[in-house]
Amino acid sequence: MYIIKLDAIDSTNSYLKELSVNKTPKDYTVVITESQTNGRGQMGTQWYTESAKNLTFSVFKDVSFLKVQQQFYISMVIALAITKALNELRVPKIKIKWPNDILSENKKIAGILIENGIKNNNLEGSIIGIGLNVNQKFFDNLPHASSLHLITGILHSKDEVFHRILKYLKLYFERLQSGDFSNLKQDYEAQLFRIKKPSTFKTSTDQVFSGFIEGVTDDGKLKLLLEDDILKTFDLKEVQLLY
Ligand code: BTN
Repeated sequence: MYIIKLDAIDSTNSYLKELSVNKTPKDYTVVITESQTNGRGQMGTQWYTESAKNLTFSVFKDVSFLKVQQQFYISMVIALAITKALNELRVPKIKIKWPNDILSENKKIAGILIENGIKNNNLEGSIIGIGLNVNQKFFDNLPHASSLHLITGILHSKDEVFHRILKYLKLYFERLQSGDFSNLKQDYEAQLFRIKKPSTFKTSTDQVFSGFIEGVTDDGKLKLLLEDDILKTFDLKEVQLLY
């Protein structure tokens, strides 16, 4: 691991992206900062967190061993690594909200932003950004957000949580690299929030419907069992799972 620690930066994902323009970074180059001025979230959103209280970091990983169609496995192993680390720290009721939000007691405590480099239809490097709310106490206007501190009542060592996540990230990537696809997918599905439970979804045109989450496809689509036993798959742009 090559860990770069910065006091402040626009975004650790952007920093790693710029770093990788001239030269491919070493595998597991990690950039961590106390404060982001332009933290980025999924689907063009912003990621705001109070400075110094939380973990905001990005990891560069060579993923050229995967096919483009297998890139959702990167999401799966990251979500599993965070889940494993947080379970070990006895954070209660950890679940993965598809595709890769991490919840504890039904509140979002971590988000993941994965940006893959693809050239000539081949995967090259992946920049994996993780924002984990550790010791933040207040989340104004974010009713679904929480932190390890709010949930456990303990002030956590950011360093300990950080190194535990990195340890499992490496272990899960080794499993992925060894080709353990179907077990990894099973493990991911077993941790999914609301799996096999009646759940409510919203389409991109704000239509609300219900169904049962059955699992995910290899390319990361959500498999839903709808009325009349119809099984349908949806991608992230089409559907949002409500809390
Ligand atoms: C989301 O849930 O929308 C994903 C949030 C990802 C935030 C992390 S913080 C570290 C890294 N740098 C960024 O700009 N974003 C990710």
